[in-house]
Amino acid sequence: MNIRILAISGSSRRESLNQKLLDVAAHGARDAGAEVTPLRLADLQLPLYDQDLEAERGLSDGAKALQALVAEHDALLIATPEYNGGYTALLKNAIDWVSRPREDGSPGVALLAGKVAALLSASPGQLGGLRSQTGMRTVLDKLGMLVIPQAFALSFAHEAFDAEGQLKDKSAERIVSGVGVALYRTASRLG
Ligand SMILES: Cc1cc2nc3c(=O)[nH]c(=O)nc-3n(C[C@H](O)[C@H](O)[C@H](O)COP(=O)(O)O)c2cc1C
Repeated sequence: MNIRILAISGSSRRESLNQKLLDVAAHGARDAGAEVTPLRLADLQLPLYDQDLEAERGLSDGAKALQALVAEHDALLIATPEYNGGYTALLKNAIDWVSRPREDGSPGVALLAGKVAALLSASPGQLGGLRSQTGMRTVLDKLGMLVIPQAFALSFAHEAFDAEGQLKDKSAERIVSGVGVALYRTASRLG
């Protein structure tokens, strides 16, 4: 069965450490046989979610495109940076838009429920953004997603990558790619 994974980073910063970590895991998933679609949230037109805005103008083109992308994929691979002990507004805003009723009236939450997700995080700090993963796991759990236990928090991430974006620590690289592989295998078993 063809497994499609949507790879999302909660940071759209040009030199994002979370994007680099996500790329390593995505590589692992691809090698295992998955089709991986990288998504840069800043490329979508996603205003800050506001219920009045939604009532007056409906879903933005970006929100509709994001819902369609989630619908087309079997699993989410998410890198969640840590801002002040939690996940970023960019990532949560995207999830909030996905969860809203679709243009045809069907529930957006149904796009997420029952799907598999894996979490990664990277931070220059000692905990590697682990607190952000904890918060994000709670959100995804509430939405009915199955978050696999395989995860990785990369501490001192500003020193962890070489010029080609590879992890200098090869054992860390194996674990991170393994998160992508585990996501692929779990989605395959559930599919
Ligand atoms: C507003 C803000 C708050 C931050 N808070 C934390 C934090 O609580 N814990 C942490 O480990 N790093 C924190 N950082 C540092 C980020 O982990 C760091 O900027 C990281 O590189 C962001 O991810 P990115 O490289 O993928 O953009 C914070 C950064 C910003 C801008």
